[in-house]
Amino acid sequence: NPQQLLEKSKKYMWLPFTQMSDYERDPLIIESGEGVVVKDIYGKEYLDGNSSLWLNVHGHRKAEIDEAIRKQLESIAHSTLLGAANVPSVLLAERLINIAPEGLTRVFYSDSGATAVEIAVKMAYQYWQNKGRSEKTKFVTLSNGYHGDTVGTMSVGSIDLYHKVYTSLLFDALVVPFPAVYRHPSGDAQTVCNESLQSLRELFEKRHSEIAGLTLEPLIQGAGGMNTMPRGYLKGVESLCREFDILLIADEVATGFGRTGKMFAVEHEGVRPDLMTVAKGLTGGYLPVAATLATEQVYDAFYGEYEEMKTFFHGHSYTGNQLGCAAALANLDIFERERLVEQASDKAKLLSELLHDLGELDHVGDIRQCGLICGIELVQDQKTKVPFPFKWRVGYRSTLKMRELGMLTRPLGDVIVFMPPLAATEEQLGEMVRILKEGIVWATTFQYGATTN
Ligand code: LLP
Repeated sequence: NPQQLLEKSKKYMWLPFTQMSDYERDPLIIESGEGVVVKDIYGKEYLDGNSSLWLNVHGHRKAEIDEAIRKQLESIAHSTLLGAANVPSVLLAERLINIAPEGLTRVFYSDSGATAVEIAVKMAYQYWQNKGRSEKTKFVTLSNGYHGDTVGTMSVGSIDLYHKVYTSLLFDALVVPFPAVYRHPSGDAQTVCNESLQSLRELFEKRHSEIAGLTLEPLIQGAGGMNTMPRGYLKGVESLCREFDILLIADEVATGFGRTGKMFAVEHEGVRPDLMTVAKGLTGGYLPVAATLATEQVYDAFYGEYEEMKTFFHGHSYTGNQLGCAAALANLDIFERERLVEQASDKAKLLSELLHDLGELDHVGDIRQCGLICGIELVQDQKTKVPFPFKWRVGYRSTLKMRELGMLTRPLGDVIVFMPPLAATEEQLGEMVRILKEGIVWATTFQYGATTN
């Protein structure tokens, strides 16, 4: 019975990234899904406006993926990858290397975006140790970067709201400014790009001998507020990394698998990372499989006889899970068969037209889009770009309204995330944008106090 389930959820659960007092006021339990629609225990339907936290691709209950998992179950659900491979993980590794940016030749599996980045960071660190350059131990990251919630990934993250409280627990990363155009005094993408690259160059010039790697989210920062990079910035970072002998770690956890209109975001600028992380969309949003892809150069630094002590001592119990790898293989088959990346690129164009209207709303400050990844920043005053008071929770209230209207998404502060599954039809995109608009108007028009007190 739904009421009992709700009570049990409030009594026993502690949800991620959730203030439980909010959940108690507005609980939600999803029971099923079909296509881009999910249904709660009362039978109310919602469009999946953030792809179930940025990962669903083909919609829910995609027949081919369901079938691939069932078929895999007839062989085995899981066996360890520590010291032994398994069939679907081998086949998936080959497929991943075939679609990955040039230069990436090796696949190291794990189970979530955070573990994939944690692994990339440890690999980059040990790479230099193994090469005898033991002074290269530092990491560079961009302001507002996000790579997951483990201690290592928080260390290369830089979002105050999430990371500040843990400061003394984290290792120090060198933070350079993200090339954010919206609030930059010049408002000019090229100027911002040049300035940011210049400060990175200055840092590299001074400290390159201590720097192991640089982590970034290519083309668009996710949790930091859906911040898009000016064209050319990513390529510029790559050149600087090469010039100063620093490993480039591209975190494609959110941007991978077609969401930016290319299979991987780095392809937009022909960038070839030394390490690349993938997760979320890898299994079509079905099962927790992640991977860290490495170049042969990185791999080679770990290769040798056991006594040489070059081994990468890292691994998780569920790494390379067969059910997950089977789902991922089916996912990649659908990408190929349905030419999904091209389709996503076309849908992104349509979406940019649909979103255009939102710009006319009084409190929409900025609309940032990269393929099917969008962030709509709400501000109190469009001209001065002054944010709403933190306490008003305008972003949160907008998304609660959207929920009522039949679409699920989550805000990042006052940035509304809109990241529909690649499978969303034109009609569904239209409907979702209509709900976005109504939710935003509702939350930005009513006065605080009048609605909550
Ligand atoms: N890297 C990137 C670029 C990501 O966007 C994420 C998760 C991760 C790594 C970590 O992957 P995971 O361990 O979750 O599989 N806190 C926000 C949303 C977090 C964004 C999820 N991205 C919220 O409260 O909505």
